[in-house]
Amino acid sequence: MKTKIQEKFKTLFGEEGTLYMSSGRINLIGEHTDYNGGYVFPGAINFGVMAAINPNGTDKVKVFSIDFDEFVEFGLQEEDKPQQQWARYIFGVCRETIKRGGKVAGFNAVFAGDVPLGAGLSSSAALESVFAFAINEINGNGIEKFELARIGQSTEHNYCGVKCGIMDQFASIFGKEGSLIRLNCKTGEYKYFPFHPKGYRVVLLDTCVKHELASSAYNKRRESCERAAAAIRANHPEVEFLSDAKRLWLDEVRDQIPQEDFLRAEFVIGEVQRVLDVCDALERDDYETVGEMMYQTHFGLSRLYEVSCEELDFLNKLARKCDVTGSRVMGGGFGGCTINLVKEELYDAFIATAVKEFAAKFGHEPKIYDVVISDGARKL
Ligand code: GLA
Repeated sequence: MKTKIQEKFKTLFGEEGTLYMSSGRINLIGEHTDYNGGYVFPGAINFGVMAAINPNGTDKVKVFSIDFDEFVEFGLQEEDKPQQQWARYIFGVCRETIKRGGKVAGFNAVFAGDVPLGAGLSSSAALESVFAFAINEINGNGIEKFELARIGQSTEHNYCGVKCGIMDQFASIFGKEGSLIRLNCKTGEYKYFPFHPKGYRVVLLDTCVKHELASSAYNKRRESCERAAAAIRANHPEVEFLSDAKRLWLDEVRDQIPQEDFLRAEFVIGEVQRVLDVCDALERDDYETVGEMMYQTHFGLSRLYEVSCEELDFLNKLARKCDVTGSRVMGGGFGGCTINLVKEELYDAFIATAVKEFAAKFGHEPKIYDVVISDGARKL
């Protein structure tokens, strides 16, 4: 990837570029909790986006995407928003940096990535983070890391139409080799947990299903949660986010909110607690409990939050059948991957069965990703 990027950079701009890298992420547990002020437990992975970037002495950004085989040039004013979706991520990062008082001088860039698109591994966060990080360095803006993550998140909100939480960009920026990070999305406090589950492997199974309406369905889930939180807040003013609510308080408003909102909120309140339970279990090396919580999360995401799909539910059931310790849909949902915690000695049989049975049912094989927990945004 490095050589390809540098070669292209030389051809287009006549010099070598400075290389930066950022990563996609997994999330062990804590789904749809981030925008509810709850906990998440992600880590950066060994799939990412790499970019070569140099200032070009103009007020224009000139950028080539190797994966889309496309060159785009844009200015840095609000009205210069490019047409191409991939370029909007970069444009958004520039604009959000400027909005925070940062300087963004024109630059040349070439980038490529190996995070599978639409698989729930946050390829877009990897793209935002590598540019947020590099632009900050090149211009000497000194914006702190958490704010760099927020630049990526605001890019999604204001330039890409997804009202996402902070998890993906946080993991992409803060990722550390061999560690998962428990983040309290309300306070911003975080803690690294070394994650080396002895005798187990973490593997992702990609259904290769991508749902067109995923971002509007995602935004709707968020609205449901906000409505539920508002109803609870009327009785308990201390509830700023849904994650502040006790289960009992949700029951109090059951008749005042749509059934759908109730189910969404029921999931979120349970999920916040599961993250804490998983962290406790990890400190005891109790992977059986970790796995059981993952199955519970899948059930909730499928039945209460309704962000699963037939293919994901199929893989989850199959994991149970193959005695996989933990398995669940990962990320926003509506397609993408399951994350599986599986004993080493069961790994081969599980993968073989999953590939065979999934292909027989859906006509194509799932993709298998063996992920390694890796570093986040950095200069190479
Ligand atoms: C997507 C969003 C995140 C988070 C997850 C669900 O990945 O970008 O902010 O809400 O879905 O946990």
